[in-house]
Amino acid sequence: MFWRIVRGEFLIPGDRIYLNVGTLGPQPRVVLDAAIETMRRVAMTLPPGVDWPELKRRVGLFVGCDPEGLVFPRNTTEGMSFVAHGLELKPGDEVLSTDHEHVGGISCWQLLAARRGVRLRQLPLPTPADDPAEIVARFRGALTRRTRVISISHVNFTTGLVMPARDIVALCREHGLVSVIDGAHPPGLLRLNLGELDPDFYASSPHKWLLAPQGTGFLYMRADWRERLWPTLASGGWDDRSLGAHRFNHLGTFDESRLTGLAAAIGFLETIGMDRVEARIRALRQRLAERVAALPGVRVVSPSGPLVAGMVSFEVAGRDALELQRRLAEKGNVRTRVIGEYDYGWMRLSPHIYNSPEELDRFVQLLAQEL
Ligand SMILES: Cc1ncc(COP(=O)(O)O)c(C=O)c1O
Repeated sequence: MFWRIVRGEFLIPGDRIYLNVGTLGPQPRVVLDAAIETMRRVAMTLPPGVDWPELKRRVGLFVGCDPEGLVFPRNTTEGMSFVAHGLELKPGDEVLSTDHEHVGGISCWQLLAARRGVRLRQLPLPTPADDPAEIVARFRGALTRRTRVISISHVNFTTGLVMPARDIVALCREHGLVSVIDGAHPPGLLRLNLGELDPDFYASSPHKWLLAPQGTGFLYMRADWRERLWPTLASGGWDDRSLGAHRFNHLGTFDESRLTGLAAAIGFLETIGMDRVEARIRALRQRLAERVAALPGVRVVSPSGPLVAGMVSFEVAGRDALELQRRLAEKGNVRTRVIGEYDYGWMRLSPHIYNSPEELDRFVQLLAQEL
């Protein structure tokens, strides 16, 4: 009953099975209303604009960080680009990453490689991964005198693997490297404590699991970078170091409604309770993973247990994932994601609190009919 009421807060049509929050989260009514109200006030020429201290306080409490380190670009892609272009990397400097990064988190380094001769090395990850210590050991073993940055996803978009981010941040600190985390997924999926994780940079997209309006990002930077990082996008105050990280919020005119929506989205998930949200997503994911894995010809490539969050990815022997996706969309009004990147060819499912167990079973039935 409780979760049926929650589903009623979304505009998703009753027969639609939406399994792609990993790309974009649907906004619940309260978020949409808050954003529209701001748009209306702008149209009416009414104050006020963004209350920056209050917004930073809300987000800082939700993700467990010092509010002064928060910047609000449009998304992870922009946040990651601000970091890559703001560091002063030289030809031959090395950035270590993985072969499970999203274009939104790796392209900024590829650009630096093409333009400035920075060396990007993408270490292969085991799939499915079952040993976080082995992943950390791979990074440790790959360090050279020229390594300057380690840039990883906190939760991989390919399989939902939760990377050993804390150990990798610690490795960076031990060797004087910059730790950059593409945290597109965790807010709204996992309870976060960025203060404890303590990376140099953490870029995110609350328009995914946090269910904020499309085009809402944040970038957190550690205290020692707030005066040092070069802005990529310069406007008034770009060189006023006394502004700290807030220099990076001077982005020219932008759509304030997304930030009102972000605050409302935090309120929505907090009202339900983030622990409850996390547990519900975990249970739904687990149900999907078990039932999909039991189908003939299916190989699940996502890890299991605490090593995975929110997603299940799999391949079906002899079947093209895009073709399968098309058929499921036509037959069952289902939205899935195909991970075609790096030629993986996997289907990815990402459920959230608006999905019901019955809906997931209907999806598995549809899939079974296709095999
Ligand atoms: C891990 C990861 N990083 C970055 C991005 C890019 O996000 P955005 O388009 O919000 O910048 C995504 C989007 O799916 C992602 O999954």
